[in-house]
Order: sequence, then structure tokens, then C-alpha cells
Amino acid sequence: MYQRATLYFYSGTGNSYRVTAWMAEAAGDTGTAVTVRPIGSARPAEEVGRGEGTLLVLVMPTHGFTAPWAMLRFALRLPRRPRTHALVVATRAGLKVGSVFTPGIEGTGTYLIALILALKGYHIRGATGVDMPSNWIALHPGLSPQAVTEIVARAREKVARFTSVILSGGHRFTGWLPLLIGLYFFHISLAYLLIGRLFLARLLFASDRCTGCGLCAERCPNRAIEMRGSGSRRRPYWTFRCESCMRCIGYCPIRAVEANYLLGVGAYLLAAAVPTTALLAGLTARVPALAFLNRAPRWVLESLLALAVLGLAYPLAHLALGVPWVSRFFTLAAPTRYYRRYHEPETTPEDLKGYPAASLHPVGDRAGEW
Ligand SMILES: Cc1cc2nc3c(=O)[nH]c(=O)nc-3n(C[C@H](O)[C@H](O)[C@H](O)COP(=O)(O)O)c2cc1C
Ligand code: SF4
Ligand code: SF4
Repeated sequence: MYQRATLYFYSGTGNSYRVTAWMAEAAGDTGTAVTVRPIGSARPAEEVGRGEGTLLVLVMPTHGFTAPWAMLRFALRLPRRPRTHALVVATRAGLKVGSVFTPGIEGTGTYLIALILALKGYHIRGATGVDMPSNWIALHPGLSPQAVTEIVARAREKVARFTSVILSGGHRFTGWLPLLIGLYFFHISLAYLLIGRLFLARLLFASDRCTGCGLCAERCPNRAIEMRGSGSRRRPYWTFRCESCMRCIGYCPIRAVEANYLLGVGAYLLAAAVPTTALLAGLTARVPALAFLNRAPRWVLESLLALAVLGLAYPLAHLALGVPWVSRFFTLAAPTRYYRRYHEPETTPEDLKGYPAASLHPVGDRAGEW
């Protein structure tokens, strides 16, 4: 029913790309001319169609119970397109515990993006969350290959049902309970967007295995990694542009990216919590009416201080990691050193570049637009 569909994705470890590819394939099979691009190389002014015969699809992961900052920024910059149809899909952290599949929580992600699009005149035809294998490798080990296969197979069925409803002229909106949960925890999403994602960005480092090949820097969708040093001392350096999408940790060919919790916890405890406790204890002892500062203001102050300290400590830690025994110590102390890695099994880093390299699931004979 559509002459033209533009599908944009933001994807760290390939889950959202894979969902986009399934949708593109289904749309292509109905005769729709399909364009698929990562938001990093999108040209929406030319690519997003006008009017009812055109469809815009945005697919993203969930970060902090909402949309990733990169997708929020992208949606805000999209051109106005009155009556162009639009879909929003968030992939989320599916898990399998024993024989039970547990869902992720996309929170406000899909509906926040849908609201932005609606305000720009788009006609929203559907929004949904899709459970793909959780990719937060800095936090937990990757799922077993068996669990990954089963979760991806279930996701494929769900995406097929969703796409078929839309392509046959219907509307489909799911995720009302996750939305309520996301609204209830919106302060957490806000804290994640304002502070948490910056804090997490400064926990990644290259272990003593790193060869300095630079692939992580080339592939980062946010250009957040700088290669510093030369020769055998060339190492990646993570900047605040990192959105913790997990691509570098998931795709490093020799599993050399780790998360440095020692630095994070150290920054928080020593530099933030302790001075904040001393400061507030002194203040409230003198002026008891200031006791309210011990609640939300304390948390904000602590987090900002921790972020500042981590920002200052990170370049020093990067230098110190040049010393072999320091590097060895931090590597062995990183829980991620012992975690299984994850990326969507069929998705290669080339696929994540979108056009013209996306060749994994070309849209039948109508692959010309890819
Ligand atoms: C930093 C970070 C935060 C996340 N937060 C959530 C969350 O709040 N809810 C959820 O269901 N999944 C969450 N996830 C899991 C991812 O959204 C999910 O695995 C997604 O499918 C990854 O897609 P991608 O490979 O396209 O990036 C988070 C993952 C990361 C790395
Ligand atoms: S972390 Fe991995 S991908 Fe990045 S430079 Fe080192 S070996 Fe290469
Ligand atoms: S540095 Fe790594 S985790 Fe951060 S945005 Fe780039 S690829 Fe993603």
C-alpha cells in the first residue's frame, strides 16, 4: 500500500538493525521502494517521503527506560511532513531465565518519539516494543547462544505480525504498561539522559589484549572513540560522545574492550559521596532546616561531582593503562573480562553501515534503493 518507505535505525549491537531489515523485507515484498539507513548517515530532507503513500519507520534500542539520546536528537531534527505515515519501534532487553522468557521495558521510548513525530505532522500508524537479546554487556554477561536464537525467533514472529497489520492498512499500538512504568520512572530516564549516559561513557577502556587496530573507533556510530598514541602504544580513548550502545565491546575482534568499574565506583565513593556527606552533615548540623538537601539535591550534587571527577580521572587512567602491570590489574579486575560478548548473530559491522554496504538481507529484487 506504500509507494515508498524510509527506515532509519540506530543500533549498537545489531538488534535494531535486524528488526529494521525484517520490516524492510516485508515492505519490499509488497512492492514498496525501500530505503534503509543508520541515522548517522541519513539525509531525511531528501529521503523521507511526503504524503499518504509514504512511510517513515524509526527503530532504536531502549536506553534507561526511554529512547537513546541520539534518536531523540534525530527525531527532533526530522523535517515536518504532514500526513506522512510513521511507525516507531524500540527493541528492548529480552532475557530467558530457565525456560521463562522475560520482557524488557521500553518505558517512554516509543511514545516519546511518536509524540515528536506527531507534533511534526506525521500520521502515527503504530508503535511497539520488541524483545531482542539484552545487549548491556558492560552490566551482565551475554546470553547463551541457545537463548539468543530463541529470543530472536520470537522477535521475528512479532515483527512479522506487526508489519503485516500496518502494511494491510491497520494501526497497532502496544506497550501501554511499559509506558506507565516509564512515566513512573521518568526521573530515572531523565537522570540517565542528563548524567548516567555520560558517566557510563567513561567506564570503557581497552585491555592489555588490545592491538590498537582502530576498528572500534571506525565503527562507533557516535564517533566517540579517538585513537591516541602511536605504534604499539596506540590505544582507543573513549570520549563523552559515547552513548554506551555496546558496539565496540560487542564487536571487538579480540574482546579487548572492558568496563572499568573500579574507576567508576572509586570516583563515586571517594570524590563524591564522602565530600558530599561531610558538606551536608556540616550544613544541616548548623541549620537543621536544610535537612531536605539530603534527599534529591544530595543525589544531584553527588552525581555531578562524581561525573566531574570521573572526567578528570579518565585521562589519567588512560595514561596509567600504558604501564603493563596497571593495564593487567585493571583488566583482571573488570567483571566484563569474564563475560560472554553479544551482538546480533547475523549482523556484521558492515550491515550496520546501511546503504550501500547492507547486503545481508537485500529487499528481494527491489534492492536497488539500498
Ligand atoms: C546502556 C543501556 C541501557 C539499556 N536500557 C534498557 C532499558 O531501560 N530497558 C530495556 O528493556 N532494555 C534496555 N537495554 C537493552 C537494549 O535496549 C536492547 O538489548 C536492545 O535490543 C539493543 O539494541 P541494539 O543492538 O540495536 O543497540 C539497555 C541497553 C544498554 C546498553
Ligand atoms: S579495542 Fe579492539 S577493536 Fe579497538 S583498537 Fe583495540 S583491538 Fe582494535
Ligand atoms: S564508544 Fe562504543 S559504546 Fe560508545 S557509542 Fe561508540 S561504539 Fe557505542
